[in-house]
Amino acid sequence: MHKVRLKPSDLVYPIFVDENAKVPIPIKSMPGYFRLPIQHVIKEVKQAIEQGIKAIILFGIPLKRDEIGSEAFAMDGIIQKTIRNLKNEFSDQIVVITDVCLCEYTTHGHCGIVKDGEIVNDPTLQILQKVAVSHAQAGADIVAPSGMIDGQVKSIREALDDADFNHVGIMAYSAKYASCFYSPFREAVESKPQFGDRKSYQMSYGNPDEALREMELDISEGADIIMVKPALPYLDIIYRAKSKFRVPVAAYNVSGEYAMVKAAAQMGWVDEKAAVLEILTGIKRAGADLIITYFAKDVGLRLNQL
Ligand code: PBG
Repeated sequence: MHKVRLKPSDLVYPIFVDENAKVPIPIKSMPGYFRLPIQHVIKEVKQAIEQGIKAIILFGIPLKRDEIGSEAFAMDGIIQKTIRNLKNEFSDQIVVITDVCLCEYTTHGHCGIVKDGEIVNDPTLQILQKVAVSHAQAGADIVAPSGMIDGQVKSIREALDDADFNHVGIMAYSAKYASCFYSPFREAVESKPQFGDRKSYQMSYGNPDEALREMELDISEGADIIMVKPALPYLDIIYRAKSKFRVPVAAYNVSGEYAMVKAAAQMGWVDEKAAVLEILTGIKRAGADLIITYFAKDVGLRLNQL
C-alpha cells in the first residue's frame, strides 16, 4: 500500500538574518522563531544539516532601507554576506535558496519600485535582475523571486544566463495568493506596505484557474520549481499543479499557518507535535515535492527519532 511519509529532506528551513541584531530577536507573532544576527547563522544551519535538512531559504532585514531597495543588491548586503559565509563553511552540504524581493528593503514596504503610488514593472524588473545576480555571485544555488512582478522569471533567467550563472535555478512563487496568513512574516521583516496593499500583484483566492495559468507562464519563462503559497487553504492548487506540470512543486506553509498551530498549542487546544506532522504530511500528500515551513528544524529532529 502506498504510504506518504515525511522526510527531513522534503523540508526547506526559512532563516531571517537581521543586520541590526546583536542577539537573536524573538518574533512576537511567531513564537519560537527569531531574527538572527549573521554570526548565529552558521550554527543554526549546522544543526539543520545534522537533522537531515537539505535546503534553507534566506530572508534579510537590512540596516538601511531606501526607495529602490539598494541593500537588496549590494555586494556587501546582509544576504550576500550570509551566502558567502554559508558556502565557505558548508559548500554543497546545503542548498541555499534566496528570497528575491524588495519589500524588506524599501522604505514603502512594497515589492517593487513605486511611482505615483503604483508599482512600475520595468524598473522593478531591472532591480530584481541585479538582486538575483548579486545572490548568484555570492554563491546562491536557487533564487526565489517572491514579488509576483510580471515577467520576473524571464528577466531573472536572462540576467543569470548573461552573467554565466546558467546553473543557478529559479524557484518561482507562481501561485501567490493575496492572503491574510502573511501578517506574522510582515511583522518579522517589518515589510507591511506603508500605503495600499499587495492585491494588485497577488492573486485573489476565489480563482483557481489563474494560478494554473501563472504556473504555466512561469515554466515557459524558465522556472525550475513552481510554488504555491500559502499551503493549507490551497491544497487543491498543489494537487492540480503536481498533476499538470512536470517540474517540482513547492508549497509554502506560511507564517500565519505556523502561528495558528503555535497559538492553539499554547492554549492547550491541540497537540503541536501531532498537528505539525499531520499538516506537513497532508501538504506532501497533496503533491508538494518541497515544503517551506517554519517547523522544519523542529520536525526534522523528530522525524529522525520516529
Ligand atoms: C514577499 C514575501 C512574503 C512572504 C515571503 N516573501 C509575504 C508578503 O507578501 O508580505 C510571506 C511568507 C510567510 O508569511 O511566511 N517578499
